[in-house]
Amino acid sequence: MPNVANCHPHISFDGKLSIIHNGIIENYRELKRELIEQGVSFKSDTDTEVVAHLLAKSYHGDLLQAMHAVLKRLHGAYALAVCHQEQPDRIVATRMGSPLVIGIGEGENFIASDVPALLKYTRQIVFLEEGGLAQVTREKVELFDADLKPMPFNAVTTNLTLDAAEKEGYEHFMLKEIHEQPHAIAETLRGRVDGEHVDLSELNLDADVLRGVKRIAVLACGTSLYSGMVGKYLLERFTRIPTETWSASEFRYADPVIEPDMLVIAVSQSGETADTLEALRIVKQQGAKAIAICNVMGSSIPRACDATLYTRAGPEIGVASTKAYTTQLVAFVMLAVGLGRMLGRTDEPTEHKLVDGLKQLPAQVQALLDEDIVAVKRCAKRYKDVFNFMYIGRHFNYPTAMEGALKLKEISYIHAEGYAGGEMKHGPLALVEGSFPTIAVAPQGRTREKLISNVQEIKARKGVVVMVSTHGDEEARELADYLIEIPACEEELSPVLAVVPLQLLAYYTATQLGRDVDKPRNLAKSVTVE
Ligand code: G6P
Repeated sequence: MPNVANCHPHISFDGKLSIIHNGIIENYRELKRELIEQGVSFKSDTDTEVVAHLLAKSYHGDLLQAMHAVLKRLHGAYALAVCHQEQPDRIVATRMGSPLVIGIGEGENFIASDVPALLKYTRQIVFLEEGGLAQVTREKVELFDADLKPMPFNAVTTNLTLDAAEKEGYEHFMLKEIHEQPHAIAETLRGRVDGEHVDLSELNLDADVLRGVKRIAVLACGTSLYSGMVGKYLLERFTRIPTETWSASEFRYADPVIEPDMLVIAVSQSGETADTLEALRIVKQQGAKAIAICNVMGSSIPRACDATLYTRAGPEIGVASTKAYTTQLVAFVMLAVGLGRMLGRTDEPTEHKLVDGLKQLPAQVQALLDEDIVAVKRCAKRYKDVFNFMYIGRHFNYPTAMEGALKLKEISYIHAEGYAGGEMKHGPLALVEGSFPTIAVAPQGRTREKLISNVQEIKARKGVVVMVSTHGDEEARELADYLIEIPACEEELSPVLAVVPLQLLAYYTATQLGRDVDKPRNLAKSVTVE
């Protein structure tokens, strides 16, 4: 429960030791019971306070030794930082399953959960390994392994910059990040589609190993899961390898069938999502190969994979993911086409067409943003007070509908559902009546006509329809109450363009409602605990 007593830091019973913690101590109830029996009284309801008291009991003049002793008793995920009154010049830190980074400054050193928090002070970063310990003073950083053996280390210079982590005149990080998408996509493409081919040589994939892959599993959470759903359609189209996309939190408890001839693709903006990491650990244990699609260099998920396609979107601060999503989609197109060619299952003209389309994306997204999407703003104003929204799409844009709905509920708190168009008649159509709003994502492509039929069914029941269609679609113009047009593109690329107005619709709806757009209630940017 959020209240002052539960806020960090937590102080030990003797008042000498203070601790901050990110994560969850799963066996804290048992430890708490034990401490209470020993006469310790608790001031908060947190799991963290247990660690403060345990440390105080184990402290005999050396904080590092005390931490080492206490870690043996903790189950769960944690990044911990501890100070003791008797050694005020040092912080002892450790991590297991939660991220912790160390910043190396001049005459000053830092610890934080992620790199953007350190950029104001330094770009020299040390990533603490799982189970490792650190002793940080103003002058010195020392690392130790789980047995307290000193560990040599090298700092890396992060490619993130402070400019990139500030708002630069935008009211919110989310709006800034939406507008950064043309640049972010260009960065994802840089050096990977220079000629007429996709160049994935950075992944060092072995063609023989690839030919042996019988099945692909995509693992991710949240917005990354929806890019993974588009990824499935792309991978199956271009590689013809059966592909399944899993919510990592489901996968890890589903007793999944894992074979060594399976390729896993883990998708994550932060590279630190606990469920994705754990799902990955399970598949790696069983010998499957893994590729990451990730934004944050050096984070835990890329380190657990055999190869990584970095999206290079730059720091994403807004909790609602935007540029991370579109760049993941672009990464998936390149990966699917690139693997398809290595396997000889994607022909040259198809590859050229897609590469050409990819190169046009930054300018097309820019054009979309420059249009100032009047219909989006009108729609946000008119429908900000409704309680429910339906989003529909098919095939490549079914995940777009899911992502559009997620964006709206995350930041405006309006209930929204994303549905496959063909499922409307199996339930959701019953919701439709006068002024019930549906967003239909219907760009050019194989399923456009089918979605138009869904829209007709909604209109026949007097529902309101906002259509996202390709420029010049006259039928859509006639049918839609609000029309949002996107530039013409290959259907495999349409999710990249179609989601942009849906991001803006969520943004403008949330700002009209006065919501805290960058930090929606109850949500975190990086979910590093289960
Ligand atoms: C949180 C964030 C989402 C993100 C999800 C997965 O829920 O609020 O924006 O999509 O985690 O995060 P990842 O870093 O693994 O992509």
